[in-house]
Amino acid sequence: MAPSPAESRPTDSGEELSAAFLERLKGEPLRELTVLDAGTGSGRVALALAPLCRAVVGVDRDARAIDEARRKAAAAKLSNVRFVVGDVEVEEYVPFKPDAVVAYLCMSDAIAERASRALRAGQVFAFVALHNDQWKETGRPSRFAYGETGVRRLLKRTGFAVEHLEVERDVKAFASVEEGLAAAIGLQERWKVDGRWFKYVKFLEDGGRTLTRAQLVVKARKA
Ligand SMILES: C[S@@+](CC[C@H](N)C(=O)[O-])C[C@H]1O[C@@H](n2cnc3c(N)ncnc32)[C@H](O)[C@@H]1O
Repeated sequence: MAPSPAESRPTDSGEELSAAFLERLKGEPLRELTVLDAGTGSGRVALALAPLCRAVVGVDRDARAIDEARRKAAAAKLSNVRFVVGDVEVEEYVPFKPDAVVAYLCMSDAIAERASRALRAGQVFAFVALHNDQWKETGRPSRFAYGETGVRRLLKRTGFAVEHLEVERDVKAFASVEEGLAAAIGLQERWKVDGRWFKYVKFLEDGGRTLTRAQLVVKARKA
């Protein structure tokens, strides 16, 4: 099993959901589907999908995030979405009887394996995962990031055919060291703990002037 991805994952980032991810899902007959959202956090993907789906189940091991998701669902008067506290890298998805599985910035080999065991031929597994180039200027790819080759290999091994795979990349360019530091100020505390901050500062001092965000958007179908 892949190492547990939780420790390096931020909670909800507040960033917009990938339009490509949502568009790919909207190509499915969602009205007829029960969708499992693995690592739902406070439910932003589950809540965005619920009005389009027959039903949505969001699972996360963070009980406080699940409480928040439940509050949001009640406030939005959504009755076809429920939230469950659970470990999506340990528990099986079969009891939820999903017709599709999604995972948004909560992706690991263990999740793909469980999605595969729960889905039947033709059903969809769609996810957004960190790409290896995410914050490459810090000299260390996230342990939980995938490259294109690695993700294709994983999906083949777990019995999925890739229908869509793209890298969404946002490379910020700076005119000065100060601009580069300012752009990462919100990450400073976390990066100081894991040693990335000093590597990033060195990168800037050596003349580097970029900061890269990159994520994979994938839709795969059970073969
Ligand atoms: C970056 S957040 C993404 C949340 C949500 N998918 C979104 O995009 O807003 C990652 C979430 O995955 C959850 N998570 C990480 N590992 C997990 C595991 N093994 N089982 C259940 N939840 C997990 C964390 O608790 C966190 O809420």
